[in-house]
Amino acid sequence: NNAVLTDDFGRKHNYLRISLIEKCNLRCTYCMPADGIVLSPKASLMTADEIHAIAQTFVNNGVDKIRLTGGEPLLRKDFSEIIAKLASLQTEISITTNGILINKHIDVLKQFNVKKINLSLDTLVASKFHSITLRDQFQSVIDNLHLLLNNDFKIKVNVVLIKGFNDDEIIDFIKLTEFLPISIRFIEFMPFAGNKWDKSKMVSQKEILDQVQHHFPESHVEKLEDDKNFTAREFKIKNYLGSFGIISSITNPFCDGCNRIRLTANGKIKNCLFSNSETDVLTPFRNDEAIEDWIAFAIKNKKKVRAGMTTIEEVNNPALNQDNRSMIAIGG
Ligand code: GTP
Ligand code: 5AD
Ligand code: SF4
Repeated sequence: NNAVLTDDFGRKHNYLRISLIEKCNLRCTYCMPADGIVLSPKASLMTADEIHAIAQTFVNNGVDKIRLTGGEPLLRKDFSEIIAKLASLQTEISITTNGILINKHIDVLKQFNVKKINLSLDTLVASKFHSITLRDQFQSVIDNLHLLLNNDFKIKVNVVLIKGFNDDEIIDFIKLTEFLPISIRFIEFMPFAGNKWDKSKMVSQKEILDQVQHHFPESHVEKLEDDKNFTAREFKIKNYLGSFGIISSITNPFCDGCNRIRLTANGKIKNCLFSNSETDVLTPFRNDEAIEDWIAFAIKNKKKVRAGMTTIEEVNNPALNQDNRSMIAIGG
């Protein structure tokens, strides 16, 4: 029954992103507001069984890809239990993580066939890592990146670009792909509650491509074919093992192919990353009510582009973008 997950624009939502937790062991300034966030009380977070049961309803309606996010998903004490339960749903399962706890969880990831890991890493310089994350964990992330590669995981590295902070590392990141079979994704900085977004801090797709064209001969830059439901437009440098992509949510959105639906750690559906109108499914679930109608309701309310912010001027309008949760409570 795909009707529940098909929106008014014909988009089928087969990709469920579940946030497991609102906490993180880093403090990235673009993700978590400096004055912290008010955490949901523990009792209002989904338990492992609830995650499993709610995900089951999505799978019954056509979801075949699940990504676990956070906060930092590996901080969930019952992470192994959650993975084990979700694995019984027979979908692809992947995670987006900051990588710090990977060595502790690598066996369970292998055991339950989690093969694709998206790792957040915004700089290749240890001191800069501290200034963006406020924690000294650079080396553990690098070590875990290599651990994952040595164990044949498929790795994408997420790099959120901030003007004047890491836009001088674009070429260094691409050079990593010469000998490492990874995909580097440069992400346009996006606005969320408390992250002091400003258009002038964002590094645009155009600026990224200008740097690439300036550094590499034109004949060496290959455009790869994009997935049907891409977030990143993909490129590679000729003869390099890996590739790179650009996630241009602000200057060049990709909503036409959106197949993503989000479930927050406290059991609310977000029909778009930028939407602050949420649909609670955990409360009806706890009241033994069917949640399919609520899922259908959330999907039917989805807007064509970025929760209705069609232009960059609208994204830039604080009145339109500031009520949304902080990224740490969405999971990307
Ligand atoms: P794949 O499943 O590997 O394609 O990963 P992904 O790109 O969907 O997810 P990931 O968690 O690695 O997110 C990378 C970046 O893309 C983050 O900054 C996300 O916020 C952003 N992103 C992911 N999904 C969407 C989306 O639906 N819309 C927008 N605008 N950005 C998204
Ligand atoms: N803009 C763009 N990407 C962000 N992420 C976190 N906050 C932002 C933001 N404000 C990215 C993280 C992580 C992914 C899930 O989302 O780097 O890799
Ligand atoms: Fe989908 Fe919203 Fe992202 Fe567009 S901005 S791709 S509609 S989640």
